[in-house]
Amino acid sequence: MALTKEQLKDIETKLVELAAKQVGPLIKEHAGTQFEAFDDKANQVDLVTAVDKKIESIIKQSLSTLYPDFKFVGEESYEEDHTVIGKEPTFIIDPIDGTTNFIHGYPYSCTSMGLVENGVPVCGVVFNPHLDEMYHASAGNGAFLNGKPLKVTERELKLQQSVIALEAGSERSSGSSGDDNFDIKQATYRNLLSDQGGYIHGSRSCGSAAMNMCMVAAGKLDAYWEGGCWAWDVCAGWCILAEAGGIVVGGNPQEWEVPVDERCYLAVRGGCSQPAQKGFVKEFWSHVAGKLKYRW
Ligand code: IPD
Repeated sequence: MALTKEQLKDIETKLVELAAKQVGPLIKEHAGTQFEAFDDKANQVDLVTAVDKKIESIIKQSLSTLYPDFKFVGEESYEEDHTVIGKEPTFIIDPIDGTTNFIHGYPYSCTSMGLVENGVPVCGVVFNPHLDEMYHASAGNGAFLNGKPLKVTERELKLQQSVIALEAGSERSSGSSGDDNFDIKQATYRNLLSDQGGYIHGSRSCGSAAMNMCMVAAGKLDAYWEGGCWAWDVCAGWCILAEAGGIVVGGNPQEWEVPVDERCYLAVRGGCSQPAQKGFVKEFWSHVAGKLKYRW
């Protein structure tokens, strides 16, 4: 099955409705109330609350009624070694992206609802109810913020003059205690920020991969680089970014094409030529201080 532009627009509209009417109000109501009501997942900084689980089940229920033939992958129902993203239309959902922000009441938690077909993100809705920002897009239909087309101002893209989102994430094993990922990330930050390296204008962290992707889509950030985030963190934002003229490549050098579950990405804004985007990517990769490795 290949979904048509019209079908995708209809799915986008339904996801926007679900985000605005059901999910957003729950996130807004409970944000900043979960200071002690959270559990650890992989470790003490990988957090989940009962609200994440409740919202995922509301979304799953609603989407399985509307689209009974589509598959569903959600952050809270993911099972290592069992969850597979195939070619069939599959919703990839993070009920609350930015759970740490949600717990602490920092206003960058959102819902992130994406759809892939043949492994490619073809629809995405990211809603931050605190800022009342609804980013939405579907393949061939353009990208929007609260119903208005996302337009990135045309301008040069230069690594040295860029502002880039970087996230520590929740995998923080350092030194001899684990793999090298955390140390490679820290060394890469240094390479990018130092006056002896990329000397970029600055780095930012929304604390939400989906919000970072949307900020790049809107051209408010030039790029976003992270290793360790998951398909549900980036799927919706990926479609929004692509529709706004941006690109997503691998976070490791030479990986021009990566699957949605790669777990290591570099997202780059539009508003410039493709050669400029490619030049930016190559220069960025020259600062990556090793090979990041993550397991799906
Ligand atoms: C996390 C956020 C965070 C990113 C992590 C993600 P969650 O998702 O997007 O910004 O750095 O890699 O796992 O746990 O809040 O849904």
